[in-house]
Amino acid sequence: MRISLSQYYTTPEVSNLFASLIDFSNVESVIDLGAGEGALVNEVYKELKKKATYVVADIDKTNCLKLKDNKEYKVYNIDCTNQNLSQRLHCKYSTIDMAVCNPPYGILDNTDFYTKLLDNLHLGYYGGCKSISSDLIFLAYNLLFLRENGVLAIILPNGALSGERYKKFREGLFSYYTVEQIVELPEKAFDYTEAKTGIFVIRKKRPDNSLIQLNRYVNGQLGEPIFKDSSLLYNRIDFRESRPLVNVAIAGEAKIEIRRGKFTHKYLKESKSLYFHTTHFKTSDGCFRGEYDDKISVASKNSFLMARVGKRCVGKVLLVKDGNIRYSDCVYNIIVPKKYISCFVSYFESTEYKEWIKDVAHGICSFVMTKGDVEEMLLRKIAEFRGPGGQD
Ligand SMILES: C[S@@+](CC[C@H](N)C(=O)[O-])C[C@H]1O[C@@H](n2cnc3c(N)ncnc32)[C@H](O)[C@@H]1O
Repeated sequence: MRISLSQYYTTPEVSNLFASLIDFSNVESVIDLGAGEGALVNEVYKELKKKATYVVADIDKTNCLKLKDNKEYKVYNIDCTNQNLSQRLHCKYSTIDMAVCNPPYGILDNTDFYTKLLDNLHLGYYGGCKSISSDLIFLAYNLLFLRENGVLAIILPNGALSGERYKKFREGLFSYYTVEQIVELPEKAFDYTEAKTGIFVIRKKRPDNSLIQLNRYVNGQLGEPIFKDSSLLYNRIDFRESRPLVNVAIAGEAKIEIRRGKFTHKYLKESKSLYFHTTHFKTSDGCFRGEYDDKISVASKNSFLMARVGKRCVGKVLLVKDGNIRYSDCVYNIIVPKKYISCFVSYFESTEYKEWIKDVAHGICSFVMTKGDVEEMLLRKIAEFRGPGGQD
């Protein structure tokens, strides 16, 4: 039950933070879909008390009984992914001042109704997709219930922050709604996922400008805001400060190569020849004896092998000290100018590098690092190794 209905409730710490991000002025009506035990709506109630009306819904009867303790709440024990939600909740679309939500992060069978719902709200076109994530449907319904200029604060999963599949969703959201703020919550803010989640504060109105405020919430503190142009966030919502490009330009003269392996682990295993996969980082000393008829995905002496994907191993690096080895498609082979090899060996062992991995690796079940991020890091470090003015 807990897993299937995604009954992971918002902790008091995150609920407090959540409420601190919301502007309560001019709010007389509130909705909370998938309200659970009321962690979010109760925070709103503390602020507005009887000055507002409250519509709260959950699929779970026991939760609804708890929610009914507050006599101001109109509580509905219903499935909020159904059609005709407006009728079922006795609540008209485009009328509510404020929506708060920490939706279930499940998978629903896609239907024409869901495809149209999301398409009409400019949240991406999912026709032809077999499944759809329930957080998107909850987000869509919340936006439907909001009046023009109403505000939604919603906790969304890692996919919304960085999933490839959500690219069109982010583009639509940033183009048709005013995303006032996105706060990145740390990994493990919720029991169910090690991945990062984020609080999105969204106003139902077209944006006046394209800047979005991003904050990180780390060790109980809200970090300094940074502002980014929304078009830079379509691929992934990156909460890091953009790096100055000037250093990269200087380093750009340095020749680096990042090659992704072409063969799957399964194929290499069956090929019976020597190979390197992410599982070999722990045991390998960097000396290899591979012999192949071609050079496809073969790493040689003085190049690095880096885990491109993996839950625990992503970012692990090994220097090829001797010989040749064929590497799998979960690994990058990195070649940097010879004179920087020892600098990179030290850097890859540093805390700075470990922090960098945490920043860039993204994904839900497993983590992945893009070639672009690795390239940016290599060029930036080379610029640093060269020192000011580009001297070695
Ligand atoms: C992640 S929990 C969050 C609960 C609460 N909003 C909070 O922040 O603590 C998701 C809630 O959605 C409810 N839920 C799951 N599927 C639902 C559905 N189809 N319709 C309505 N509620 C649903 C679960 O019972 C659970 O209480």
